[in-house]
Amino acid sequence: MSSIESLKLRTSIDGWDRQDPEQAFTLPSRYFFDEALFKAERDNIFLRSWHVAGHLSEFAEIGQYVVCDLFGQSIVIARSRAGTIRAFHNVCQHRGNRLLEERRGNTGGIVRCAYHSWCYEMDGTLRSAPRCERIKNFDKEAFAIPQVRLEELGGFLYFNLDPNAPSLAELFPGADEEMHRVFPSLANMRLIEEADVIVPANWKVIMDNSIEGYHFKLSGPCHIDLAKLIDFKGYRLTKRDNWWTYIAPANLEAGEAYGVKLRSDLNPGECFFNIGLWPNNTFYTFPFSEFLGTFIMIPLDAERSLLRFGYYSANEQTAEVSKACMRWMNEELGPEDIALNISVQKGLHSMGYDQGRYMIDAERSNESEHLVHHFHRLVFQGIHGAQR
Ligand code: FES
Ligand SMILES: [Fe+2]
Repeated sequence: MSSIESLKLRTSIDGWDRQDPEQAFTLPSRYFFDEALFKAERDNIFLRSWHVAGHLSEFAEIGQYVVCDLFGQSIVIARSRAGTIRAFHNVCQHRGNRLLEERRGNTGGIVRCAYHSWCYEMDGTLRSAPRCERIKNFDKEAFAIPQVRLEELGGFLYFNLDPNAPSLAELFPGADEEMHRVFPSLANMRLIEEADVIVPANWKVIMDNSIEGYHFKLSGPCHIDLAKLIDFKGYRLTKRDNWWTYIAPANLEAGEAYGVKLRSDLNPGECFFNIGLWPNNTFYTFPFSEFLGTFIMIPLDAERSLLRFGYYSANEQTAEVSKACMRWMNEELGPEDIALNISVQKGLHSMGYDQGRYMIDAERSNESEHLVHHFHRLVFQGIHGAQR
C-alpha cells in the first residue's frame, strides 16, 4: 500500500454515524475511492437494493424489453406473450451466452440465443432447444432462466437481485403517493429520450452534488440561472427514512426560462421537484417544463459512474420550453455539475484533505446539507451495518 493510501486509512470510523448531524464531520475521503469499500458497497448495497428498470409504458407491447446492467450482472425486463411483465437474468441456460445486447428493443415475444438457437419466452421459460428430443432426460422446464424480483412504484418498475430484500412499499412508504401528487399524468408518460454520460467520479460524489441547495447560488452561471427560476424561500429539503425530496415553487415573476419566453397560459407555475429513492434512483422536474426526468448514477468502478439522463412526457408534442430545458440540462447545467464532480474526485485523493463539515443549520434551511449527511449515513450503515 502506498504511503498516501495508508495516511488516508488512519481516520477512525467508529461511531461516525452517531455524530450529531449539526456538528458532524463528513465521510472520510477514502469512502470515495477505496476498492475494498467499493466492493462492500456492491455486495451490501447495490446487490440488495431496488433499481429502476423503466416506466410501465416501456413494456406496453408483447416482446418489448429493457436491459439493465449493474456490476457485471445483466437483467432483462420484458412483456411476455402471456401478457406478464417479468425480470430475468440476461443469460442462456445452455452454455451461458448473453442473450440481448441492446439497451431496448422488441423481440416479438421470443428471444433466440445466437449460439445454438435455444429459444425462450420473454418471461424466461425455455420454449425450444434444437435436438433436445434426442437427449436423455432433458427437461425443458428445468432450464427456465432464473427470475429477478420486479415491483412497481410511482409508475416505474424496479428490479432487485436480493430475494430477501424488503419490498418497495416497506422501504419507501409515501413515495408512490408523492410521485402521483407531483406528476398527475404519470400513467400517460412516454420516454422521449435517454442520454448516457460516463463521469470519472465516484457515484456518491454525483449524488451529493444533486441533493443540496448550498451550491445553487454559489457555483457556476447555469446554477444561478436555475436559482432565478425558483422561489428559493419556498425551497424545502425533506428527509424520510430511505428516501428524500426537495421541492420549490417556480418563480412566477420569471419572464423566460432556458432561453424561451414564458407565457402563463402555456407554462403554468410548475414546481422544481426532486425525489431520491435509496440508493441511486432520482426523479425530478424543473420549473416551467412538463417533463419528468430520471437521473440515475450507476457505479462502473470506484471512480467511474454511468450517469443516465432519461426524459419522459405525457404530452404528444413536447413544448418548446421543455425541449429547451432538456437541451439546457444536457449541455449546460449537467456539464457544469459534472465538472464540479470531476474536480471533487481529484481533490479527494489529496494528502491535504480527509474530512470536512456538513453545513447543516438548526432550521434545515434551503441551503443546509442535511440530505447529504442523511445519504452518507445510509451508505455508512449499508457498508458496515447499523450496529456500530
Ligand atoms: S449458449 Fe445459448 S444456445 Fe448454446
Ligand atoms: Fe448542481
